[in-house]
Amino acid sequence: MFGFKSSAAKDSSHCLLKEVGIAEINKQHLRLASYAVEFSQIVEELSSREPTNEDWRRIDSLLSKVMRYVATHFAEEEALMREHGYPAYEDHKKLHDDFTAEMIKMQGEINNRNIKFKKKMSSLLWDWLYKHINEVDYQYREFFQQKGLS
Ligand SMILES: [Fe+2]
Ligand SMILES: [Fe+2]
Repeated sequence: MFGFKSSAAKDSSHCLLKEVGIAEINKQHLRLASYAVEFSQIVEELSSREPTNEDWRRIDSLLSKVMRYVATHFAEEEALMREHGYPAYEDHKKLHDDFTAEMIKMQGEINNRNIKFKKKMSSLLWDWLYKHINEVDYQYREFFQQKGLS
């Protein structure tokens, strides 16, 4: 699935994401979703033309912003899991690490100005995040709630 096609749809991004029970983490998920929307908009703009140097610069800067934010988000989620002894920590961390490795590969393609990144970016960023948040992150909701987090 490739979520949002217009800026109007951006406002409803939070409706598609499940709340995971911790306000700060929900906020971070929304921000990640809004980056995915920004990427999807660039990819959509580029569906009918070749990227200009200016486009590549926008992509570079968005990608580094996203990668920094993803790293911070994963680190915070993992720290909470370790702190509270979340039983599925190792498996969850592995998914984060795999995603990070995919992002690094993607960055390599973008650095090489390889237009193939467009197709991968759509599924990597939006599908992965959406699935990860709604299916994997969502699983810790009850655990953290029992620990008194909100
Ligand atoms: Fe998350
Ligand atoms: Fe996660």
